[in-house]
Amino acid sequence: MTQEDLKNLPKIVEKFKKSNYPVALTGAGISAESGIPTFRGESGLWKNFRPEELATPEAFRVHPEIVREWYNWRREIISKAKPNPGHYALAELERYNPNFTIITQNVDGLHLRAGSKKVIELHGNIFREKCSRCNRIYNEPVYETLAYCDCGGLLRPDVVWFGEPVTSINEAINVALQCDFMFVIGTSGIVQPAASLPFYAKNNGAFIVEINLEPTPISDIAHVSLYGKSGEILPKIVNNLIKT
Ligand code: OAD
Repeated sequence: MTQEDLKNLPKIVEKFKKSNYPVALTGAGISAESGIPTFRGESGLWKNFRPEELATPEAFRVHPEIVREWYNWRREIISKAKPNPGHYALAELERYNPNFTIITQNVDGLHLRAGSKKVIELHGNIFREKCSRCNRIYNEPVYETLAYCDCGGLLRPDVVWFGEPVTSINEAINVALQCDFMFVIGTSGIVQPAASLPFYAKNNGAFIVEINLEPTPISDIAHVSLYGKSGEILPKIVNNLIKT
């Protein structure tokens, strides 16, 4: 975060204070400081594991045991991880303004564990299971390589795979259309439909603040872009908010 960025904090805080309906769209970057690898970028998961091949209904049909083992591996990493100061800062923002809503692409559940309550999990939650035959949801993960529903169907993680519809997208679009302030945090801004949400918000007059390590397609429409770690920048914003 540069000196120039620091000068922008009071303006961001002022806008946040005046906002009736502030929102944050988050991506894998907000959980990076919790030790969960992002999908893209230098330490991206994609490099080693090619999820484009594993995170699909087709892969699950052909190799359910490999897909489940990959998710169980990720579950183990995530269950050992803890929310970081970025997650806690967002939970604090909801205490400041109870309308504050998080739309997350993350399946790690860390916003909820940090105490945020208004959270739309666009891509599901890795710790739930869903029956691939009858769609019944199980709230506890099963770590067996193959696991079955009472109906006999194979269980899969309750996450959105490539090519599957994002069922909560309409709710998220409504939030984006109503909000007057949007943080866009730790997302490469290239995976649809989530990547369109800041554009809906901007077109409806929301103030857009991006927080990322580097420029993204969202930088073009952001009123302010802060480049650095969200776990360092967000607590500064909250401190500023509380002090002023
Ligand atoms: P990506 O891995 O595509 O992008 C992570 C972003 O976080 C990058 O722009 C990084 O620069 C930024 N970043 C990394 N560390 C950061 C930090 N400490 N502070 C701030 N920013 C940081 O992750 P997403 O955009 O979330 O979907 O990916 C979107 C979707 O792609 C995922 O939800 C997943 C994947 O396909 C599904 O699994 C359905």
